[in-house]
Amino acid sequence: MTRVLRVDSQSPDPQVIAVAAAEILSGHLVAFPTETVYGLGANALDDAAVRRIFMAKGRPAEDPLIVHLASREDLSRVARVLSDKVVELTRMFWPGPLTLVLPRQPEVPKSVTAGLETVAVRVPAHAVALALLRASGVPIAAPSANRFGHASPTTARHVLDDLGGRIELILDGGPTTVGVESTVLDMTHYPPVILRPGGVTREALEGILGRVLVYGEQGEPIMPAGKPPPSPGMLKRHYAPRARLILYITGDLETTLGKMAEMAQRLVAEGAEVGLLVAEEDIGAFEGLPVRFFNLGSNADLEGIARRLFAGLRALDEQGVEVILARDFGEQGLALAIRDRLRRAAQQVIS
Ligand code: TXA
Ligand code: MG
Repeated sequence: MTRVLRVDSQSPDPQVIAVAAAEILSGHLVAFPTETVYGLGANALDDAAVRRIFMAKGRPAEDPLIVHLASREDLSRVARVLSDKVVELTRMFWPGPLTLVLPRQPEVPKSVTAGLETVAVRVPAHAVALALLRASGVPIAAPSANRFGHASPTTARHVLDDLGGRIELILDGGPTTVGVESTVLDMTHYPPVILRPGGVTREALEGILGRVLVYGEQGEPIMPAGKPPPSPGMLKRHYAPRARLILYITGDLETTLGKMAEMAQRLVAEGAEVGLLVAEEDIGAFEGLPVRFFNLGSNADLEGIARRLFAGLRALDEQGVEVILARDFGEQGLALAIRDRLRRAAQQVIS
């Protein structure tokens, strides 16, 4: 049985938090909201508890977890603070959606880091997550609280759908605000490498670090050949809806929408149930077509689109569509993270 306890997202009830902290300290699994997505937490210093995360998610053991801390002062407990730049990043972006990859301290079990000598760390910007971290007094290892390969959960309902019966407790603090996961930044390389674009933009990081590379951007991995992939979880198909997702990445919006409408028409003629994951302004391009829409909101509001993205994939799946047509939003700011998630959810990319 999975218990679900409601908590206020701004000022969580200390008694509820105490229940959750006790679960963490007895080696159990607790899903909790962060500003990005819901995490599936266990005591990061408890090897057996960490292993249960992998079992509950169906996640391969070679995909390392992010360690969450209550405050930036705790960083040196789990990682080696490599440089002044690292300190500057933590001052600027923590609490917040930035995960730093740094050399690990020996106390961090290998199950957390999948045997790597590095550890991924962040301080989440969410009152519930922070209260839980403080009350339990230990670092909490937490991947996104979805079954491996599914869209990440942005509500407690999503967590329950994926992990109900497999974990002890879900703290329901309402929908998350950022909606896409944290940016994973590898600080053990120079220039630093964004392994996963996310809530903190490349532009914001460049403001502090100067040049920043994005893993896979040139089509080729930038890491030295012969080394294991820097971030095992980055390489696989992910976030996949049940439906077949076709992503359109073309230069010109009008052309893109034209191609999408044509495809939708063809699929409908073949008798398929078609879903469209598009911006408010795009909907007119599909007038008269018997398709289902998930409206991501105005295309001028990338934050809103990021916030609704995973919920959109799940909602269209729930309506039983067979094919989802989605479009790209470019690569400025949060659009890079949106592109990354859609790309990895897609079965086919049309560019
Ligand atoms: O926003 C987030 O980051 C959410 C919330 C819950 O904090 N967490 C999350 O965790 O997205 P997860 O496990 O779904 O994704 C973590 C990513 C994985 O792709 C993993 O491969 C990468 O971070 N990662 C973890 N440790 C790493 C390491 N030592 N080196 C490189 N990549 C690492
Ligand atoms: Mg995940």
